[in-house]
Amino acid sequence: MRNTFSNDTRLLGLLGHPIRHSYSPFIYNISAQLLNLDLLYLPFDIPPSDLKSAVRGMVTLGFKGWNVTIPHKETIKKHLSNLSEEAALVGAVNTVVNDVGNLVGYNTDVHGIHEVLLPFKDEVGGLEVTVLGAGGAARAAVYSLIKYFRPAKIHIINRTEQRADSLKDYFYNKMRYSEIKTYILFPPEVHEVISNSKLVVNTTSVGMFPEVDSQLFYDPKVFNRGQIVFDMVYNPIETGLLKMAKGEGAVTINGLRMLVSQAAKSFELWTGQELPAPAIHDALLNYIK
Ligand code: ATR
Repeated sequence: MRNTFSNDTRLLGLLGHPIRHSYSPFIYNISAQLLNLDLLYLPFDIPPSDLKSAVRGMVTLGFKGWNVTIPHKETIKKHLSNLSEEAALVGAVNTVVNDVGNLVGYNTDVHGIHEVLLPFKDEVGGLEVTVLGAGGAARAAVYSLIKYFRPAKIHIINRTEQRADSLKDYFYNKMRYSEIKTYILFPPEVHEVISNSKLVVNTTSVGMFPEVDSQLFYDPKVFNRGQIVFDMVYNPIETGLLKMAKGEGAVTINGLRMLVSQAAKSFELWTGQELPAPAIHDALLNYIK
């Protein structure tokens, strides 16, 4: 990695807790190196009680922008001057741009999901889709589906039914979208909901390293040929869920593409430059395995 910096080095960072497992420093610092940019991206482990002073510190130190991750994606909003339309509608921020003290929050996860699913847009439109999970990542997925893909129905399946219900209410209130149905994990009738969905998106962390053997369900027969199955988990690159779906003939999409796509959008917001996405994708493939 580049180890000489100038007095003008552009500082970027990450605020999260914990941040030990983040690939963002790798993605942005390698990109800077490949593009020969005088830029440094630093991760900061900031507990919730320190978020306000951390934001003030980032501004004082002249950071041009930073990513925000768990658990700050929602609480950061009150420390910002403006939100992009997407961040406001999703209710979460993963990228902040510091424009001379004017802090603007964006949600580039929406962009990542949109870009990854775009090749399947015509297949998904007018059909039923299933979202597994009802947290912040699910909110970005549901927003992206409503805004760009116009499915006939969105089924949300979650361990805690009440969280799925509040997501349904959220999108009715924010976007007047009424085609969401909710289910609890995992009575047998839910299998049928998944089987009948053209697209299945896993937004939960189930199956993520180190618990690679845990899954939301273990019956591969819920999947079939002709389906598209997208798992946001990127470590391992091929999750148990994707293995099952692939075994039944479904088209599978791993979380790495979204990781790179959302990072590319953040990078563009901060630098105006295009992230060298194919090179970063390949570098991550080697780094993660
Ligand atoms: P994120 O912002 O990444 O979406 P989150 O808001 O904590 O994170 O949401 C995590 C999602 O994964 C939730 O839908 C959660 O289910 P609950 O709402 O019931 O908590 C789901 N999840 C996490 N661990 C799970 C597990 N072991 N089994 C089933 N669902 C799980």
